[in-house]
Amino acid sequence: MIVTIDGPAGAGKSSIAHQVASRLEFEFLDTGAMYRAATLAALRAQMDLSDTDGLAEFVGTLNLAWKSNTIWIDQEDVSGLIRTPEVTRSIRYLADVPAVRSRLSQLQRQIACGRNIVTEGRDQGAEVFPDAECKIFLTASPTERAKRRMRQLADSGSYLSLEDVLAAQNQRDLEDRMRAVGRLRAADDAVVINTDGMLPEQVLDQIVDLVRSRLD
Ligand code: C5P
Repeated sequence: MIVTIDGPAGAGKSSIAHQVASRLEFEFLDTGAMYRAATLAALRAQMDLSDTDGLAEFVGTLNLAWKSNTIWIDQEDVSGLIRTPEVTRSIRYLADVPAVRSRLSQLQRQIACGRNIVTEGRDQGAEVFPDAECKIFLTASPTERAKRRMRQLADSGSYLSLEDVLAAQNQRDLEDRMRAVGRLRAADDAVVINTDGMLPEQVLDQIVDLVRSRLD
């Protein structure tokens, strides 16, 4: 069974998707990590990020692997290197290229094939797994998402103002929503959950109950 969890940055998808997978004893796939690792590889190779054909060719030959919740380029686990501001800033150059999306979507389908898996991203329910048995679109108001992000950053020692976090988030939302291919959107048959005012445990319970009802 495939469970897709999509939604904007800061909606809490990642931690919820992880917990849903572990409660149900499903595997987990973080597709954002794949876009991040491809971007890291392109930066390391000093690719011209405006050269869409070059990026498509580069990603076509890239040896990306997802193993036990870690992301690898060739023989290197790069999971700890993909969340830098430079990578985050540069992702859109790759994520906007249809051929790059097509290659990463193909890898995602290969990874999920025949498995019980929770996949998390932006385009999973609407584009990559249109036949997934259970699709969730997790969202929250911009201010709520920015406040959560601020708390996360503070936990790791970075203190940013709400205005700055909100501005960066609005920019990412715009990029994710306006993309010609693979844009952020809820699939027509997705269950939309607005997590404003909900505790993480409540969101988790609601999704787990939903998946169990589909399993039955
Ligand atoms: O989920 P995360 O924030 O790590 O994703 C980083 C970026 O990768 C997103 O802002 C989006 O631009 C891109 N992405 C995407 N499609 C996905 C997952 C992520 O375009 N399925």
